[in-house]
Amino acid sequence: MKRAIIYYSFEGNTKEAAIRIGKLIGADLIEVKPVKDIPESGPSKILTGGGKALFGLAAKIYPVEEDLSKYDEFILGTPVWAGRCAPYLITLIKKNEDLRNKITGVFTLSGSGNNKSCLRQLKKRLPNLKNDISLVDRVERDAESYDRSITIFSSLYTALGGKADPD
Ligand SMILES: Cc1cc2nc3c(=O)[nH]c(=O)nc-3n(C[C@H](O)[C@H](O)[C@H](O)COP(=O)(O)O)c2cc1C
Repeated sequence: MKRAIIYYSFEGNTKEAAIRIGKLIGADLIEVKPVKDIPESGPSKILTGGGKALFGLAAKIYPVEEDLSKYDEFILGTPVWAGRCAPYLITLIKKNEDLRNKITGVFTLSGSGNNKSCLRQLKKRLPNLKNDISLVDRVERDAESYDRSITIFSSLYTALGGKADPD
């Protein structure tokens, strides 16, 4: 079973979780890169990112370089933006039905801990989703529950087969 984690991360929290989960379940990491990212700071960061997430505007991405057809299963990782999934990942899954059908797990990262509407949005689009976790970013999180969530999420994949890499 060959697996990959496909993720987008603006400030590093989703990337950190992707690395942790990838090591536990032995999955490759594939980062989705936007053609134009949002401003790094200030009110326009939230306004632009929130607008893109809510209305799906200007969310172009660079083509993913990896050959996705070699994977049996994918896990998607996204920050919550304005209660939604990162718009760049929506661009990716909209275009690719095979990928959509092979996504079996998602992990979402938020500042508030309210990841519900983002998860609802993803559940509507991903017919074979069977595993999800809601995580809080590194500034806000309780380390113990963060670690526990990642372990429980990952254990489904290690139980189903796959090579774990504890280092
Ligand atoms: C444009 C933007 C919108 C955001 N909207 C929300 C939100 O609606 N709810 C929330 O809890 N956190 C929100 N956040 C916080 C992020 O979800 C959170 O910090 C997450 O861990 C970021 O992941 P990253 O470091 O991988 O980019 C927002 C952050 C940005 C940049």
